[in-house]
Amino acid sequence: MQSRIVIRRGALAKLGTLVRSVATARRAAVVSDANVAALHGPAALTALRSSGFDAELVTFRPGERTKRPRELARLWDELAAMALGRSDLIVALGGGVIGDLAGFAAATWLRGVMWIGVPTSLLAQVDSSVGGKTAVDLTHGKNLVGAFHQPRLVVVDPDLLATLPRRHLRAGLAEVVKIGMATDARLFAWVERNLEPLVAAETRALEAAVVRAVGAKARIVRADERERANGPRTALNLGHTLGHALEAARGYRGILHGEAVAIGLRAAARLSMRTARLAPRDAERLERALDALGLPRRMPPTPLASLLQAMAHDKKRTNRSVRWVLTPRVGHASVPHPVDSRLVKAVLLSLGARG
Ligand SMILES: NC(=O)c1ccc[n+]([C@@H]2O[C@H](COP(=O)([O-])OP(=O)(O)OC[C@H]3O[C@@H](n4cnc5c(N)ncnc54)[C@H](O)[C@@H]3O)[C@@H](O)[C@H]2O)c1
Ligand SMILES: [Zn+2]
Repeated sequence: MQSRIVIRRGALAKLGTLVRSVATARRAAVVSDANVAALHGPAALTALRSSGFDAELVTFRPGERTKRPRELARLWDELAAMALGRSDLIVALGGGVIGDLAGFAAATWLRGVMWIGVPTSLLAQVDSSVGGKTAVDLTHGKNLVGAFHQPRLVVVDPDLLATLPRRHLRAGLAEVVKIGMATDARLFAWVERNLEPLVAAETRALEAAVVRAVGAKARIVRADERERANGPRTALNLGHTLGHALEAARGYRGILHGEAVAIGLRAAARLSMRTARLAPRDAERLERALDALGLPRRMPPTPLASLLQAMAHDKKRTNRSVRWVLTPRVGHASVPHPVDSRLVKAVLLSLGARG
């Protein structure tokens, strides 16, 4: 079932009313990280309580390393301590890490309870809060344990981005570029025309980016909710074969998901020129947009062997070879397919991998 998505400045203050319109629950476990809880937790709790929810906050350490089985187990214990019941709900108040963790807890707690997404990072507002993918990471690879579990409602308040650190803002813009490059040439061209207000974090530009990216992603998810093999949703994995491997190879430290995706997009563009007839001009457009958004041009020094090993655990892998989503032109992506490993190695080395 598709989620209802509300995108509106000031929506956080209306969270209670919005959630009440879809839920009869008594209790609400509000899952967040320490940064977001300090900034926006009180407003969320007040709004929920004023609509009659018995709302309690559960907080985690900020960062990707919270998205792992140990923290998930802690969250289950907290839900047990709260005696969260089948007809209660979970609210994910935070970035993609909290959305993926709390969403997976909702998928598994009592075999599934309702959850509501309140994405607070740009990355979560434009991408991860839509589509119902939830997961935790393992040392072996990203998102290896997870479930499809759609939030009943997603409440996006672009005003919350005012407190988001610039580095995380840029990381979110990488996913906007990805959605445009892979699925929506008009979105991509719009980003190219709005690079300046976007990096300057102008609220109106960010709000427009959220509306356009969510629209594009929701269209794809509607067509292919469960990401069938070779279905249209696989396009959204553009840049993620290398992106995920890079995060895993570095132990989910130091590099943000969006930064890893930016490097993965550059790799996909370089491979696409060689094997998918991407015009050099279009590859340049992609690299130039990433440059202008202040996204990294090279990965931090990472052994080639660790990257190849991490890729071998990627979910897009078939029996023998790692498969890549490539792009033949702006606004389009191919279904995942194998690429010659010598070519892959050359491209990884060009992006800073250590041989
Ligand atoms: N489920 C999906 O479809 C999907 C899609 C894309 C990415 N993801 C996942 O999302 C994760 C990355 O998400 P992310 O980049 O949001 O990371 P994140 O959740 O760690 O948030 C980024 C940082 O910003 C802070 N923050 C968030 N909102 C803030 C605000 N309003 N003000 C101040 N600080 C704020 C957080 O505390 C954190 O330090 C990755 O694990 C990735 O795999 C999932
Ligand atoms: Zn991503």
